[in-house]
Amino acid sequence: MQTIEIRTKSRPSTVLCGDGAWSAMQKFLHDKDVFFVTDTNVFRHYGEEVKSLFPQAHICVLPAGEKNKNKNSLFRILDEMLSAKLHRSSYVVALGGGVIGDMAGFAASIYMRGTHLVQIPTTLLSQVDSSVGGKTAIDYKKVKNVLGAFYQPERVFCDPRFLSTLPAREIKCGLGEIIKTGVLDGALGDKLLQNAPRLHDLSFLQEIVSDCIRFKARVVEQDETESSGIRKCLNLGHTTGHALELCYGRRSHGEYVLIGMWLECLIAEKEGYAKKEHSDRVRSLISLAERRIPSFPDARQCLRYALLDKKNDRVDAISMYISESYAKGREITLPCEKYADYLAILEKRQ
Ligand code: NAD
Ligand code: GLY
Repeated sequence: MQTIEIRTKSRPSTVLCGDGAWSAMQKFLHDKDVFFVTDTNVFRHYGEEVKSLFPQAHICVLPAGEKNKNKNSLFRILDEMLSAKLHRSSYVVALGGGVIGDMAGFAASIYMRGTHLVQIPTTLLSQVDSSVGGKTAIDYKKVKNVLGAFYQPERVFCDPRFLSTLPAREIKCGLGEIIKTGVLDGALGDKLLQNAPRLHDLSFLQEIVSDCIRFKARVVEQDETESSGIRKCLNLGHTTGHALELCYGRRSHGEYVLIGMWLECLIAEKEGYAKKEHSDRVRSLISLAERRIPSFPDARQCLRYALLDKKNDRVDAISMYISESYAKGREITLPCEKYADYLAILEKRQ
């Protein structure tokens, strides 16, 4: 098991990652007042174990899926926290994927102006990305993650045991954020390309999880609240990814990030920010998880969702972070008509 310290200004965070993290979690929480938040799928697999380990704990079980990442779920968590008489020194424990982690984290940040927060990420995506760094949120009025807070978890217990019950599709979803990190971190990208046949092998994934967390930790330490701009790199592929996700909603977050990265890599090339050689490398990384970029009828309708993205600072233009070369990128802004023309490319995929 590895220990990764994230020295953020608001509150330091410790990530325990690898075999043994689940036992470390039990030791850490055994004498504390704990309140678990999870979803129906995770509860089905791990609920009985949690009940027997923490018989006094309240477990709030929410319906699974992105469509439930909303105010109803948030208020259900808060109502149950009040009924369970949680106080400021209680521990909210998010046991689940990014949806549960983001909502439980947000609830922990506003209940009595802040309780302790522990993340136990159970999906590949939440292990490599969402459980660390302190972004918490819910979706509201068709805008993704528009209500939220930066709120660092005190501990993250990241145990590979959870990956064994994860459906294959969710592994692909996690690969979306892993490949994003591989585009941003040249050495990780090389490692992914060199180990392509091992990408679904749990022991390799375990190694990659800690690589991704270390990379994210370094970024978040420099720009915890995305104010200096350094953290914006973590949004690679997310402008188009989020717009597609809100517009179509059939695939997972990570799959839309892969498709978003593909289009934004093309934009970087066509707009003269990236050489073809670099874009080919990004496309090779994307193809490790998404061999064929699908077609989206009426993709131009995504423009209205992209215009609502919180990264924009103008009402008529779209901002996005693009990768320019090996481990180098920048934020660019495109007029909305031009961005709509690029979206149209997604309508004509064979
Ligand atoms: P998710 O939380 O919906 O989990 C995916 C599915 O897997 C769900 O059906 C869930 O019930 C199931 N599941 C979870 N763990 C399981 C397990 N161990 N075994 C079997 N089934 C299991 O989705 P996700 O991909 O983990 O997270 C996506 C969310 O994360 C999005 O809302 C996205 O916006 C957010 N996100 C946040 C950040 C951040 O920095 N806060 C970063 C990236 C993504
Ligand atoms: N997933 C984007 C971030 O944490 O900043």
